[in-house]
Amino acid sequence: MRRYISTFIACIALAGSGPAMAACEFDIEVNDTLQFSTKQMQAEASCEKITVSLRHTGNLPVEAMGHNWVLSETADYQAAAMEGMNAGLENDYLVPADERVIAATKMIGGGDSTSVTFSVAELAPGKYTFFCSFPGHWSSMQGVFELI
Ligand code: CO
Repeated sequence: MRRYISTFIACIALAGSGPAMAACEFDIEVNDTLQFSTKQMQAEASCEKITVSLRHTGNLPVEAMGHNWVLSETADYQAAAMEGMNAGLENDYLVPADERVIAATKMIGGGDSTSVTFSVAELAPGKYTFFCSFPGHWSSMQGVFELI
């Protein structure tokens, strides 16, 4: 039954994806739980710029339930998140100028919004990982960013 349901959901996702769903602009919501509103993003490699807007609809302050959106190579994200913990909130819990970070928004709390705009011209098509670098969040707050 579980397998059937996953297949069913995968089919819906596929039906709704394809080239038309790939985009250059994304709106992602977060709240007082440890999840992004999406686990999958498909961006077009032909986009001149990609913009990711992040909106925190929760109530908790950034010190307690901060979220950001960080993009890195999948092989790098765990280390970037773990080492970023020591960098503190003033650095959005990322090592300053971390070369493993392809793009990142600032860390926001409930009621706040932010965005980041970046170029993908130097990125090879393929799958990357996006995550939240707030301490302890990366293991559940993560998803696939695919450049197609
Ligand atoms: Co978070």
